[in-house]
Amino acid sequence: MLKETIANILKDVILLSTEEIEQLLEVPPNAELGDIAFPCFILAKKYKKNPTIIAAELVEQLKNDLKLENINIHSQGAYINFFFENNVWSEKLLNSILQEDFTKMDIGKNERIIIDMSSPNIAKPFGIGHLRSTMIGNALYHIYKVAGYDAVRVNHLGDWGTQFGKQITAYKRWGDQQKMKDNAIHECLQLYVKFHEEAEQDPELEKEARIWFKKLEEGDEEAIKLWNYFIELSLKEFKLMYEKLGVDFDHYLGESFYNDKMEPVVIELKEKGLLEKSEGAMVVRLDELDMPPCLILKSDGTTIYPTRDLATAIYRHEQMKGSKILYVVGAEQQLHFKQVFAVLDKIGKGWSNDCEHISFGLMKFEGKKMSTRRGKVIFLEKVLEEAVSKAKEIINQKNPDLFNKDEVAEAIGIGSVIFNDLKNNRIQEVDFSLEDALNFEGETGAYVQCTYARIQSLLEKGEWKESWINDHLNPVDGKYLNDPSSWTLSKELMNFQQIIELALFKNEPSVVARYALEVAKKFNRYYNNVRINVDDMNEKKSKLVLTYATGKILKQVLQCLGLKSPSKI
Ligand code: ARG
Repeated sequence: MLKETIANILKDVILLSTEEIEQLLEVPPNAELGDIAFPCFILAKKYKKNPTIIAAELVEQLKNDLKLENINIHSQGAYINFFFENNVWSEKLLNSILQEDFTKMDIGKNERIIIDMSSPNIAKPFGIGHLRSTMIGNALYHIYKVAGYDAVRVNHLGDWGTQFGKQITAYKRWGDQQKMKDNAIHECLQLYVKFHEEAEQDPELEKEARIWFKKLEEGDEEAIKLWNYFIELSLKEFKLMYEKLGVDFDHYLGESFYNDKMEPVVIELKEKGLLEKSEGAMVVRLDELDMPPCLILKSDGTTIYPTRDLATAIYRHEQMKGSKILYVVGAEQQLHFKQVFAVLDKIGKGWSNDCEHISFGLMKFEGKKMSTRRGKVIFLEKVLEEAVSKAKEIINQKNPDLFNKDEVAEAIGIGSVIFNDLKNNRIQEVDFSLEDALNFEGETGAYVQCTYARIQSLLEKGEWKESWINDHLNPVDGKYLNDPSSWTLSKELMNFQQIIELALFKNEPSVVARYALEVAKKFNRYYNNVRINVDDMNEKKSKLVLTYATGKILKQVLQCLGLKSPSKI
């Protein structure tokens, strides 16, 4: 709002469009330089004058402009600095922030975003990469929703491949139904490891596995039954994890869903002359793009991961009508997605530009890499459980009488894992330390959640009534919000929409997480500097309106990140 106002004023006196001016406007590093500044350098060439002189002249010219009501201006060097009169403008900002549509934007109207997220593999442990994909994908989903997009979450389960032949073989030989019931994925992993150990001695096993996979492909009843059994039990475990994390999906469409959708792709590639033989396999060459060829058919004629992703992308574009398709998958699959998008482009799918790989870095635990191979699996559930029990310990010390302790501990414990994941650029490695993640005073989810709870208790103490927002007889009175910490907080709240836009532009939840910290910090400064619940009713109301507005924004950003916002901690 502040930038728009200034751009609107400046456009009458300089030869630039409102948009150009808005792009150039800056937020000065300190309050002495105003709320907004316009650098005049760009005008020097146009006006053939020193920018410092231009700044001074423009200030003279603007001084009597009626549009500058309640805005003061000065020039300093080549800059024009604008100072908004806090009492008048905080009222305006708050009124706008409190509008219902402030946190329900419509920039994504009529656009559908498909988000491929989580996508673990059946009969294999839910890996740390899947956890990151789930949390980043979920945050992106909520951010797109707030912006008004029709966002669709798809779980592209790894439910097909020759490994199922091995899994069936191993289960039939050594499997134990009870163990499967108790802990299916763990049991599957044991069986899988055993299969490989035994296969080193006994080559028959590999042969048997190939036969079982062939049976599966041909729809053999027993094979299908066992395969469904693995899926059912694995999904049951995955869903426990999703429930803990508070994540839902719009579709579970695993790799097997595309079994009958690959042939047309292979035919199209052939018809367009793109398929070439290479060491017995069929590939699409991507030499001109400096990429290794994309494998389409293995030497035995079977399809492979990229073939499936080609069919998947086409389905998502043509059937699901996705105008954008995001793949939230670890950085190690970068080449895979580059190849898939390049092949799509080669078969004339111009929309391949609307596919994007949302890559991310590894996550380590206290400096150690987690490995799912060779049985060295730290099960994620344990990490989440530990986070919750640590959170409970802290709550027990801080507020032993809290009535819904378990619920709150869950919200804070799980939230700390999620926030810790999302607070840095996704491409960076995350190092998870439980102690740091649960520091109530650090850059943590708990810090933001506690700030939110503090706000709720202030509102309660002040006997806040929602109806006050629409109280036209007694609107916010800016004269009570005239101090620097109130003004800084109001301005920060006003940034919400821009933050959402930036997060979407970069597909980067950390933009929202950093913003959550910033709002919380600025609120706590306000809280420390200003007495909110004073005796004077009008003063209290105005201060509580700002408090309430902060709560509204914090709740929305926490929700965007996938964190709960308990009102008492
Ligand atoms: N299941 C795969 C894995 O665990 C991730 C799938 C990602 N999505 C996709 N469309 N390829 O590595």
